[in-house]
Amino acid sequence: MNEDHYSLAVPFYDLWHEDGHVPLVRELLPPLLKGVARSVIEIGAGTGLITRLIARETPAEIYAVEPSLGMRSVLVNRLAEDPELLSRVTVLPCGALDVEVDEPVEAIVMVSVLQSFSSPEREELWRVLARQLEPGGLLVFNWRERSARVPGELEVMGSYQVGRHTYEIAGQVLEVAGESVTSRFVYRIRQHGVAISEDEVLSTNHWPTGERLVAELEAAGFARQDAPESMETWRLTD
Ligand SMILES: C[S@@+](CC[C@H](N)C(=O)[O-])C[C@H]1O[C@@H](n2cnc3c(N)ncnc32)[C@H](O)[C@@H]1O
Repeated sequence: MNEDHYSLAVPFYDLWHEDGHVPLVRELLPPLLKGVARSVIEIGAGTGLITRLIARETPAEIYAVEPSLGMRSVLVNRLAEDPELLSRVTVLPCGALDVEVDEPVEAIVMVSVLQSFSSPEREELWRVLARQLEPGGLLVFNWRERSARVPGELEVMGSYQVGRHTYEIAGQVLEVAGESVTSRFVYRIRQHGVAISEDEVLSTNHWPTGERLVAELEAAGFARQDAPESMETWRLTD
């Protein structure tokens, strides 16, 4: 990821995702982290919604990797409100492919980030993560098989009241090419129904099939573990 697609989305992020994947991850992630006590890398920590959960569920030191300045700013401000979090979370201002920590970690968590990597980038990602994990280390991420997407019209996906204003997110699939889906997102703020701010973001995400993921991870030296639907847990083989 070279462009900061997320910067325009930042004011909308927590509103939308508290309504999206975050509540389910809050329910499913804690049992998967049972026993993790020393160190965790979180890839794509965003505004810190999941960082805070990892910190609550484990006593581990956390390396929160976040390349977007906008998202990272919210993350650091969230840490600044809690001295305990501030002492335990190191924020790495880089992308996952450039991660390098001092010692291999016990676990890596990656929530709603996998789609940012194209297929060649994913192969590199698994290699980098395997290098950062100790033998037998745990890799946890969310993933589900998706039905084929087709280009469509712009539709409102979420609408939230913030004081007297309405924050609205609309999206549309523009193009589908194999596992890659290019979408347009419009972030709008309305006052009395009239748009007073509007930003548009085009982004391409990548949605590999389950079969493809399994092949990639096994080739990179990971073995699949039991996990509830929509979560994946893998261990680095010794
Ligand atoms: C949908 S958000 C998820 C944020 C957080 N994990 C959550 O669930 O709330 C995706 C995040 O991945 C980050 N990201 C995108 N490309 C990345 C990369 N190459 N390495 C690490 N993080 C990346 C984005 O900046 C963004 O903060």
